[in-house]
Amino acid sequence: MSMIKVLLLGLVLAACGGGPKDTIEQLQDPSTCKECHPKHYQQWSGSMHAYASDDPVFIAMNKRGQRETSNQLGTFCVQCHAPMAVKLGLITADSAKDFDPAALPPTARGITCYFCHNVASVADTHNNGLVLAMDDVMRGGAKNPIDSPAHNSAHDPAMAGLTNNSTMCGSCHDVVTPRGVALERTFSEWRTTIFKEVDPTPGSGLPLTCSNCHMTATTDVIADKPGLNVGARSYGFHDHGFPGIDQALTDFPETMAQLDGINAILKPAVAIKGAMPRSGPQPGGICVEPQMGGQITVRMDTFNVGHMFPSGAAQDRRAWLEVKAYDASNVLVFSSGVTPDGMDPDDLGDPLKGFFWDRTFKDDMSPAHFFWDVASYTSFLLKPPITRVSTDVGYDHSTTSVFSVGALLPNIAVITARIRILPVAYSVLDQLIMSGDLDPSIRSKMKVLDTQAPVAVWTKATQDPVTRCNPFPSPTPP
Ligand code: HEC
Ligand code: HEC
Ligand code: HEC
Ligand code: HEC
Ligand code: HEC
Repeated sequence: MSMIKVLLLGLVLAACGGGPKDTIEQLQDPSTCKECHPKHYQQWSGSMHAYASDDPVFIAMNKRGQRETSNQLGTFCVQCHAPMAVKLGLITADSAKDFDPAALPPTARGITCYFCHNVASVADTHNNGLVLAMDDVMRGGAKNPIDSPAHNSAHDPAMAGLTNNSTMCGSCHDVVTPRGVALERTFSEWRTTIFKEVDPTPGSGLPLTCSNCHMTATTDVIADKPGLNVGARSYGFHDHGFPGIDQALTDFPETMAQLDGINAILKPAVAIKGAMPRSGPQPGGICVEPQMGGQITVRMDTFNVGHMFPSGAAQDRRAWLEVKAYDASNVLVFSSGVTPDGMDPDDLGDPLKGFFWDRTFKDDMSPAHFFWDVASYTSFLLKPPITRVSTDVGYDHSTTSVFSVGALLPNIAVITARIRILPVAYSVLDQLIMSGDLDPSIRSKMKVLDTQAPVAVWTKATQDPVTRCNPFPSPTPP
């Protein structure tokens, strides 16, 4: 191992002819990068990539999984959540059962700068098939990098947003379990969408890869240290905060920035939209239908989401539609999905309409709470756009939930609807707390997030007289 490293280092230095750089060991420590890339470092330090191996739910789940499979999981979980620990041989199939990030050096915790920036090739579409060069070349999307005193640099099309085909991110963001279940599928979902299409027509904006959407570009210097003669690059600086759904559940840097990032990405991403199927312009998102025995319909969709919603850990998430209907005196006469704080929507006992997560089952079809138990799943998720041809089946990727309210309908004066998401179901946390693997104090840190502001509202007074839908503006496709 160390022999190979020495050889590679020799090769690169010979090839580039640069001055002496930092050692590979130094480059593997994210704090080395802080000196010249302070903003990248600060954003990354609060990201779920930095948190991936400190995440208490991860630690608890890995511990329980190892116990319940007699350590058959080996490095399966750690290879993605602390990939450098496995590459450096600090965690092995034997030691993975006692995985404790506190015992690891910073070079090996979470998904480090070096790990992403040293990828030489992608050997597989899932389960982290990234092969590292283990050299001192930092690969990125910036063209013609000036000489860096710390490392050699390379412009790599496999890193740059427009040309990377999502393969680098995708290889970790698709999980196939040891028993062959494709449980987390963000990358394979993306490959079915319009966003993977290459369309050079000006204005098409395609393709949109993972990093195009998740690493917003701004015009700034990309290295910033007094004495470095670095010029600004237009749209050269890419955000490294990677906000999505999850937040740190223990003390961690940049928690406010992460929450701002989550709100910014999530709020516009899913919404109530014009009711279908209806002819003519789509007037609104919530409709009433007296004919069908008295119904409320709510049509939902994703907007510029490059995969399902939720995606990835969709088996642990709980996303759902909450509907409330009031009479003229503001008394609640009908509701669905109104979930008290600290409770899962599936524990309400409601018939569950408009719920979005993956139901996972064991061999005997009883519910499976954890990866290693999962034999099969049924998917209920909001869909992304898969075609740009308006006459194709599948062009309309919306989902409509229908609620039968019967004779209540004439009394209903106001209806509100919103889509909510719980990052990890309380039932998953409770299972881990009960088995002694998770600290019970983590439960109260788990909070529901709301999408779309303001909440969609229908009123009898302002409904469209023909369609009986609210005049809620429909965001434009996709
Ligand atoms: C192929 C790489 C990969 C493997 C293998 C993997 N994970 Fe993950 N894990 C991810 C990614 C990517 C996410 C983020 C997904 C998302 O946000 O939707 C994630 C998210 C999580 C989360 C946070 C969200 C949640 O569901 O609570 C936990 C906990 C977790 N993984 C535990 C595990 C455990 C335990 C294992 C092993 C049984 C494991 N992971 C195996 C890539 C992986
Ligand atoms: C002593 C200063 C210094 C340190 C320390 C440093 N860099 Fe750099 N880095 C630079 C300079 C200068 C550039 C080139 C900037 C330019 O051309 O605009 C650069 C460029 C890069 C690029 C862009 C390469 C490309 O062409 O796309 C990446 C990626 C990178 N650094 C990653 C890292 C990582 C990861 C670390 C920590 C392991 C690190 N750097 C540490 C100074 C530094
Ligand atoms: C999850 C993978 C990942 C991690 C972790 C990561 N980066 Fe990056 N980084 C990228 C990608 C992808 C790009 C290229 C974006 C593009 O050009 O579209 C990039 C670009 C860069 C660049 C070039 C300038 C820019 O913003 O495009 C620098 C410098 C850089 N990263 C430094 C760092 C540092 C320092 C860390 C750790 C503190 C880090 N990165 C962690 C994926 C990562
Ligand atoms: C080494 C594997 C790996 C690579 C490569 C990787 N990720 Fe991740 N990513 C993860 C894991 C693991 C998590 C979840 C950590 C947790 O919550 O415990 C995650 C979390 C995320 C999240 C936050 C999800 C949430 O629910 O909050 C986003 C967004 C994300 N990754 C996007 C990307 C993008 C974009 C790239 C490529 C530039 C990328 N990832 C590359 C493993 C990886
Ligand atoms: C067209 C823009 C777009 C593209 C392309 C895209 N995403 Fe996303 N992604 C979003 C938006 C918007 C959200 C927030 C809504 C949500 O959670 O799905 C999101 C959320 C996520 C999350 C948190 C998901 C969850 O619900 O648990 C992860 C992880 C993620 N993206 C990873 C990826 C990866 C990996 C790729 C590439 C294979 C990718 N994204 C491509 C827009 C995009």
